[in-house]
Amino acid sequence: MGRIRLVAGNWKMHGSRKANRELLEALVSGVPQGRGVECTVCVPFPYLGEVAGQLKGTTVTWGAQNVSEHAQGAYTGEVSAAMLAEFACRYVIVGHSERRQLYGESDAQVAAKFTAAKAAGMTPILCVGETLQERDAGRTEDVVARQLGAVKFDGGVLAYEPVWAIGTGRTATPEQAQQVHAFLRGRVGPGTAIIYGGSVKPQNAGAIFAMPDVDGGLIGGASLVAKDFLDIVKAAAK
Ligand code: PGA
Repeated sequence: MGRIRLVAGNWKMHGSRKANRELLEALVSGVPQGRGVECTVCVPFPYLGEVAGQLKGTTVTWGAQNVSEHAQGAYTGEVSAAMLAEFACRYVIVGHSERRQLYGESDAQVAAKFTAAKAAGMTPILCVGETLQERDAGRTEDVVARQLGAVKFDGGVLAYEPVWAIGTGRTATPEQAQQVHAFLRGRVGPGTAIIYGGSVKPQNAGAIFAMPDVDGGLIGGASLVAKDFLDIVKAAAK
């Protein structure tokens, strides 16, 4: 079907210039080549310049974790898509559940961020996912359909991240992931990469990535440990 396989590290608010350098050195030398999987790191804004410098010319790509929906102006503390594009970001995470929950991002705002990232030539990674309460109420498909439906989705990567599995050590079973991925596949078609996120570790990555509609992962905690992240990238390789 020709869609990409992608393993994206979401560093969240972690890192230091020294730790980043060491982590990226290990990734650059350890990432599998020519095995059909792309490895990317989504880093905190202040590190973008150095990360871009270190990764330029390697097969590891980079991106950001958030972007403003506005082009420019009096938006203190915000970062525009054009600024990210200047640092050659390939990807931008939009609509992560931490942004939705902790910073009150609405579906409409997420949609505008998606459009802004696309317009600047980057690939948005749109996160969707239900809370435990929504899952227990049988509303998983309604919730992800609403989150996806709010966005004019074309040319992005979709990430299914059940909120109850993020940072909890409680991962969706491969079958639970596949079920939602298949539902999303019905909406976005065969050409779109749909990656899974939520407590992916070296121990469970292989089984999750073996599912037919799982095209890789969005990795939080385990992306900060070079060996773990590399093992997860290898699990996604063909
Ligand atoms: P986790 O985070 O792997 O630490 O659960 C995933 C994410 O939030 O993207």
